[in-house]
Amino acid sequence: MTSFPTALGLSAEQTEHVIRCAGLAPSLHNRQPWRFRLADHVIEVHADPQRRLPATDPDDRELRLACGAALLNLRLALEHVGVRPIVDPPSQMGAPTVLAEVRSGGKTTQPPGERALYEAIPRRRNNRRPYEERQVPSADRHALGSAAQWEQGWLHLLTRGELDQFSELVHRAHRLQLADERFRVELERWTGRPREVHEGVPAAAAGPQPEPQDLWVVRDFSGGTAPQRVAGKDFEREPLLAVLCSYHDSRADDVRAGQALQRVLLTACSRGLQSSLLSQVPEVPQTREDLRRMLGGSLQPQAVLRFGYGSPTPRTPRREPADLLLQ
Ligand SMILES: Cc1cc2nc3c(=O)[nH]c(=O)nc-3n(C[C@H](O)[C@H](O)[C@H](O)COP(=O)(O)O)c2cc1C
Repeated sequence: MTSFPTALGLSAEQTEHVIRCAGLAPSLHNRQPWRFRLADHVIEVHADPQRRLPATDPDDRELRLACGAALLNLRLALEHVGVRPIVDPPSQMGAPTVLAEVRSGGKTTQPPGERALYEAIPRRRNNRRPYEERQVPSADRHALGSAAQWEQGWLHLLTRGELDQFSELVHRAHRLQLADERFRVELERWTGRPREVHEGVPAAAAGPQPEPQDLWVVRDFSGGTAPQRVAGKDFEREPLLAVLCSYHDSRADDVRAGQALQRVLLTACSRGLQSSLLSQVPEVPQTREDLRRMLGGSLQPQAVLRFGYGSPTPRTPRREPADLLLQ
């Protein structure tokens, strides 16, 4: 058996571990659109152009969000094995797919707060099921907002008054997307998948089908096999929805927003909250613009998140670390 290549002074086992952690990040339709090039002094994070979803994400914005999320996991895992990560933007001379270069800034001991986020990496799930009608305490809401700010992002928690307006946007975006055959083909191809495959969303991780009384719509990720909704098990009437925003709209901002997204999701998990993403509105240009205006016009909406308390959901499979390496 050939041993895993090494980087940043780590052993083969440690290097494999940090790449595995990076690969546990969330991604649109679980396409896992990241690759890593390992060298003695650097780990490069690359976008994988083979894993684009051109109908759903034509500008690769969500692809870069996912790579940013993988980068945050990589940073936390490196810190956990004692390496202080220094992240640089790609050098001008680098390959066009490179999004970040991670080097060692020396030895470190991970502070307890960061350790809690590291430990949440394998436990975090995108939970599409209905949540309980239970309020998220203000200390947790505050912690989610601080997590976004830590990574130079902004988390706007939708107020009760904004929920109706947002619900109208979700229904509009959902209708527009379903009217696009290319979008439907991508959704059908990458969701409702059997458990044994290592990419795409398995049917077991889908939530129940939305019903007419629902305030917003969720996508059917089950390939038509969505579980029957148990009577009385509706989606929560007043969900805690939040819009993760960046301050600008460049490629580097998308990567930064991905790190903020993942820090928010891991913070939620470490505080016992479930979370899921609802991306119809930021994916459709017209509704993304309407959401931007709804938030005052100066923030760039990147992702919509739902938080709450619910029953556990199964793990979604991932590719092996060796399959994520770029030679
Ligand atoms: C940018 C982005 C957009 C996503 N959009 C949605 C969405 O609209 N609906 C949804 O149910 N999941 C969405 N997801 C979650 C992915 O489907 C999920 O991360 C993936 O299936 C892996 O599962 P896991 O997060 O439970 O590990 C999104 C994830 C990312 C990173």
